[in-house]
Amino acid sequence: MSAASSFETRLSASAATVEAKLDACLSADHPLVKGTPSRLLAAMRHGVLNGGKRLRPFLVIESARLFDGAAAGAVSVAAALECVHSYSLVHDDLPAMDDDDLRRGLPTVHKAFDEATAILAGDALLTLAVGLVAEAEGIAAEARLALTLALSREAGAAGMVGGQALDLAAEDETLDEAAIARMQAMKTGALIAFASEAGPIIAGAFGEDRQRLRRFGETIGLAFQLADDLLDETADAAALGKATGKDRARGKKTLPALHGHDWTRARLASLVDEAASSLAPYGGRGAVLCEAARFISDRRS
Ligand code: IPE
Ligand code: IPE
Ligand code: MG
Ligand code: MG
Ligand code: MG
Repeated sequence: MSAASSFETRLSASAATVEAKLDACLSADHPLVKGTPSRLLAAMRHGVLNGGKRLRPFLVIESARLFDGAAAGAVSVAAALECVHSYSLVHDDLPAMDDDDLRRGLPTVHKAFDEATAILAGDALLTLAVGLVAEAEGIAAEARLALTLALSREAGAAGMVGGQALDLAAEDETLDEAAIARMQAMKTGALIAFASEAGPIIAGAFGEDRQRLRRFGETIGLAFQLADDLLDETADAAALGKATGKDRARGKKTLPALHGHDWTRARLASLVDEAASSLAPYGGRGAVLCEAARFISDRRS
């Protein structure tokens, strides 16, 4: 079996574990959602249990494994992060934002339900995530607090939400390379940096380990959005499960639009090398995360 296919096998096994957790915590009898109006719960499930690569959860689980962090706890944090990511997509697709009809190969939540329900489903997924971190099994209370603090910062106004604000404002502005990189680091990099930083936090490994994993996450976060922006220009909607060719049409500011595709591919390769070098101190134990960096840069969907 090739390295790439064994990586994909590992990613899909991790996705299945996380999906089982998401299914359970989005079931009507789960204590955090018990009493949710049925249409709202259906919209939340549509926004989360609809495919998706589950790459952020994979990073949480693998970065925790690197430090022997509690596996069950890592799955809860991974599921929480996927709720935050999925909420960000539900809102990103709204008519007031990117106005998209297709997500993960299905109608977006506001198309399948209605706009108000999509807004509320996103709100509820974000708040559910906080509960999932708080109740994560096998993680010390101090570490759960550190995870909550980190998630609050990375998902919020100084992280993903702030990046989305910059992305929307930029539709009517000119941005230079540094400003585009800052926007990418916030809208996408922040949650991915949280994903890989979560591992050492879950395991109670602070200091240098946390800093290294954070750097790794920031680097692959930039690669992730760069690849997304390249795919918008080069892939087809059927492969991607979402509309393509929309960024230029909407005036989105992206590095492929600024520098072209060859520059983007070269930059992706250098980000993969940079990411691997942040994990060099872990030797062969960091190999799976290095594979994840390569997957992010080379992905076709
Ligand atoms: C898409 O994220 C949105 C970005 C941050 C670029 P993904 O490409 O991870 O989407 P899913 O979760 O696999 O659908
Ligand atoms: C979205 O970036 C980043 C988020 C925080 C959701 P995009 O707007 O490029 O993501 P897609 O292409 O719609 O998935
Ligand atoms: Mg967007
Ligand atoms: Mg979008
Ligand atoms: Mg995009």
